[in-house]
Amino acid sequence: MNQTKLTEARNYEKEQGAKISEKERPLFHVTPTAGWMNDPNGFSVYKGEYHLFYQYHPYDINWGPMHWGHVKSADFIKWERLPAAMAPDREYDAQGVFSGSAAELEDGRHLLMYTGVQGKDSTPQCRQTQCVAIGDGVNYEKYEGNPVITGKHLPQGCSLSDFRDPKIWRDEKKKCYYAVAGNRTSDGSGAVLLFQSADGFSWEYVTMLDRSRNEYGRMWECPDFFETDGQAALIISPQEMRAKGLEFHNGNDVACLTGSYDSEKHIFTRKQAAAVDYGLDFYAPQTLETPDGRRILIAWMQSWESSRFHPDGAKWAGMCTLPRELSFKEGRLIQNPVRELFKYRINPVIHKGVRLEKTMRLSGITGRILDMTVDIRPDAGRMYQKFVIYIAENKEYATRLIYRPGKNTVCIDRTDSGFRYHIVSKREAPVRDQGGSIRLRLVLDRFSAEIFINDGEQVMSSCLYTPVEADGILFETDEAVWMDVEKYDIC
Ligand code: FRU
Repeated sequence: MNQTKLTEARNYEKEQGAKISEKERPLFHVTPTAGWMNDPNGFSVYKGEYHLFYQYHPYDINWGPMHWGHVKSADFIKWERLPAAMAPDREYDAQGVFSGSAAELEDGRHLLMYTGVQGKDSTPQCRQTQCVAIGDGVNYEKYEGNPVITGKHLPQGCSLSDFRDPKIWRDEKKKCYYAVAGNRTSDGSGAVLLFQSADGFSWEYVTMLDRSRNEYGRMWECPDFFETDGQAALIISPQEMRAKGLEFHNGNDVACLTGSYDSEKHIFTRKQAAAVDYGLDFYAPQTLETPDGRRILIAWMQSWESSRFHPDGAKWAGMCTLPRELSFKEGRLIQNPVRELFKYRINPVIHKGVRLEKTMRLSGITGRILDMTVDIRPDAGRMYQKFVIYIAENKEYATRLIYRPGKNTVCIDRTDSGFRYHIVSKREAPVRDQGGSIRLRLVLDRFSAEIFINDGEQVMSSCLYTPVEADGILFETDEAVWMDVEKYDIC
């Protein structure tokens, strides 16, 4: 067994990880032990705990040969670091252990399913195949029968070199496993393929569930497929998307395709496509189902376009979003922070019925690690045009959240946040018309802001690399409004 590369990575991350103090990292968002992370992988329940792996290059703060990093948690908030789970140490994954997923097998073992890459990208030798590894929650062995899904399984017209990111799940009714994987079809755009297996090792092709036909971006990466609240949802991360209205502005962005699924004939009928997040940093989400039946989503809180920028001096790069609970209301995806966050909220500061004219600071309302809900309503007879919350603010820096009731939009503008990348520093989300009333819930954690609008109807996730001393919060309006503000620190 060639475990040298993995041992090397484990030794390296242990040594380097110890040099990064807790304060240099977010408090409750997952970051790599050392070096770089991108997609969350293998998000799964195993022996009653939540396991999360991630695309990992421990040796640098830039993308490189992909390993899998590993953490676990009992509650999605407090994460324990575990040693790296896999390194690119076989012929079939020598160019990278790419994204994938995990499931607990009937016999109690943990199965990881991932893409092995061989042959350099964009060369005729490049092949992406699906592979598995088996383990106990800490140590994993790659299966001797790898790869388990190859070009031989693919229908005509599918790509051998853009074929990746398997997401596995168990179907309890049918007593078998399914997996979806992304592929590129002959029109150059993406598709999602469905595979089936009795045991997780021996797979067959079932069908193409959906495809882009160049409408929703090019290659479809990191698919996920599930049913919640009677909706079938196919979440995809298409590359090179074209913006549509306020949606899909990040180049590589995320779409949720909703519709119905005939699980006998394996036919997914798409009815709608919508953006999942309207922030500047959100990609490659993955979900799991908790034992109490909640569908939880976690994503890489980064956009590929700005991923070579890091907090100044950081020895880590990339982080995950706060896990979110998903539901559907009238066909629309609703996302809210996992309820486990409530346990970590301390020091409540509550201001009710505050009349705001022009600008105002409120006592006790500052900070960079917090959970704050702001409810706004217009003053009788007067309609404001612009309400702004400044966060991560001081004399030098500020990020603005701007609500414009006349336009029904919320904008995040981090132009003055200190981010060393200004090509795109604003995004807007469309919000429901409620006559000037809105609820904004802000979850901040040292290097990020996640904004949940109107109880999760829209979410905006963005990195903020503003020095942490900038912890001011300021409210501003052009006409009087009424505000309720409820803020908690997170411990
Ligand atoms: C998405 C992605 C995946 C791939 C991985 C490589 O961000 O491009 O398709 O498996 O990253 O790190």
